[in-house]
Amino acid sequence: MNEADRLRDEFLREIREAASLDALEAIRIAALGRRGRLTELMRGLGALAPEARRNAGAALNAAKDEITTALAEAGERLGRAARAAQLAGERADVTLPVQAGEPGRIHPISQTIDEIIAIFGEMGFVVAEGPHIEEDFYNFTALNIPPEHPARQEHDTFYLPPRPAHRSNREATLGATGDSSRLVLRTHTSPVQIRTMLAQKPPLRIIVPGRTFRADHDATHSPMFHQVEGLVVDRTTHMGHLKGCLIEFCRAFFDIDDLPVRFRPSYFPFTEPSAEVDIGCSRRGGELQIGSGGDWLEILGSGMVHPQVLKNCGIDPAEYQGFAFGMGIERVAMLKYGIPDLRTFYDSDLRWLRYYGFLPLDIPSPVRGPLTGASPGGAA
Ligand code: PHE
Repeated sequence: MNEADRLRDEFLREIREAASLDALEAIRIAALGRRGRLTELMRGLGALAPEARRNAGAALNAAKDEITTALAEAGERLGRAARAAQLAGERADVTLPVQAGEPGRIHPISQTIDEIIAIFGEMGFVVAEGPHIEEDFYNFTALNIPPEHPARQEHDTFYLPPRPAHRSNREATLGATGDSSRLVLRTHTSPVQIRTMLAQKPPLRIIVPGRTFRADHDATHSPMFHQVEGLVVDRTTHMGHLKGCLIEFCRAFFDIDDLPVRFRPSYFPFTEPSAEVDIGCSRRGGELQIGSGGDWLEILGSGMVHPQVLKNCGIDPAEYQGFAFGMGIERVAMLKYGIPDLRTFYDSDLRWLRYYGFLPLDIPSPVRGPLTGASPGGAA
């Protein structure tokens, strides 16, 4: 047996017996590294006579190939075993008790959305959602806000770059003009009214919490904010239902049984008649207090769904009527929980969240305890 074959057998045996990737690497260096045994032999070839050199060279190359292949296979096998061992060691025991330390908090926006859903849920509403990137058609046109309508200017819309012109069949049917497929960041949650009425038959009773966007930024406006939309459509729905439903909501949300609620005539292109809803408050000594007191605070917009909007969705206004409302979530959260600056909602400041956030089992109350760092829900 020549030297090359002897070395080959020796290294193949070592490779078979290697127990780790490190051991394998040591074998590779000993065999094929710069000072490796096979490398040294290769280097010695030059000193041999041509005939002997050819034979020895062929044997060395064959040995080198076999060793390289064996190294790769063993590396594969040991790597798999190492990963399996690592995974086994990292297995999480979900039965372990929760680690001591600071519990996470529920953001006031999430908390407020949950509360609103719970109240309307008891009245039989179900949650609906729609996309943040919306077609002009759903955000404006179908809501009775045609291209030349002044309400479009008031919305400070974020427009996305124009798409190659295309008109959907639906727009063509409505005789809509302009590029109704142009994409916008939805300026309100009202497009979900349209999406729902196009997709489902009345009776409808939906509540739509979600993000909305307008190019506006100061202490009371953020370019991204949240709204919750409500829509009811049925054969006998009337203004009395709108009023009863929203009075009930305001009193439940602010947890004040005799909270004064006022409906003030207003205008929205997609409702007729329209009303803004104010709740009673007092501003004695510069401090805002919700409840009775002779002053008023606007908290939401509402109205009976405009017959044209029903028609746009294929619903016969002679057969069906509906009411809708829209409310800013930050605004009611600020009022309920005494949060003074809208911008702080999105600073991701942990101290803020510790103070204004909620623990999972908090029973939220607008009444905050002493300032001990407890959440408004008073988990103490
Ligand atoms: N979409 C309106 C807004 O953003 C609110 C609204 C919704 C008003 C539904 C009436 C009915 O201001």
